[in-house]
Amino acid sequence: MRRPVVAANWKMHKTPDESRRFLEEFCPLAAGWSGIEVVICPPFTALETAAGMLEGSPDKSEGRPSLSLGAQNMFWEERGAFTGEISPAMLTDLGCRYVILGHSERRQYFGETDEGVNRKVKAALAHGLIPIVCVGESLEERQRGETEAVVKRQVSGSLGGLEPARARGVVVAYEPVWAIGTGHAATGEDANRVSAFIRRVLADMYGPEVSGAVRIQYGGSVKPENIAEYSRQPEIDGALVGGASLDPHTFARIVEAFLDKRGEEHRWNS
Ligand code: PGA
Repeated sequence: MRRPVVAANWKMHKTPDESRRFLEEFCPLAAGWSGIEVVICPPFTALETAAGMLEGSPDKSEGRPSLSLGAQNMFWEERGAFTGEISPAMLTDLGCRYVILGHSERRQYFGETDEGVNRKVKAALAHGLIPIVCVGESLEERQRGETEAVVKRQVSGSLGGLEPARARGVVVAYEPVWAIGTGHAATGEDANRVSAFIRRVLADMYGPEVSGAVRIQYGGSVKPENIAEYSRQPEIDGALVGGASLDPHTFARIVEAFLDKRGEEHRWNS
């Protein structure tokens, strides 16, 4: 059984004060949820404020809502002369449990490569952080019929060389680049098909048991109006939400679509 995980990627939005106001509204909405993990990923500057507010969230035991803190990036080194960077230990020290790695905006604007993402994934796991590793093809790649080749290269490049016991803990976010922030979301069937493909690639790398345990999110123009299309897909275990996660009520409606998935046996067949 895979526990659904829905993450808010606030990108470069919200000051500490704005983050606090969001959580004051959002946390009460989450009070009745169970069997699902919700991850809030504010900018670095708001992590501490958010950590303070999420501390009391009734996490930890199965069957209760878990509101966790995540970062949007980190560097793989422990410390040193890396101006502007943040280490894994700095994140865990603040109470982070998750970290988004290899988001397409990082790949596109900051030159991140699969090799670098792989180093970050290993460092995150070594520090007990759960990486949310983003993969997905561009519009040109899709039009050229290269979706599977691109996704396979990104999955094997970003997630290679892990201990199987650790590999099963990663979260993969399938985010087609053409769907991010554009309002043009993938269809549920399409997202499910690529997610099943990702699982097959992971099965080749780590075997079916690990691959069946990895949680796969869909991301790209997710909103309350289209979330049911993804939440009902057997291979999709959650969502990575950008724009629609900035409003507490809108984000809560998205999370609620996955509450129905609690306790479902996964139906993946190799
Ligand atoms: P979006 O972004 O929901 O605004 O499309 C998703 C993401 O980039 O993670």
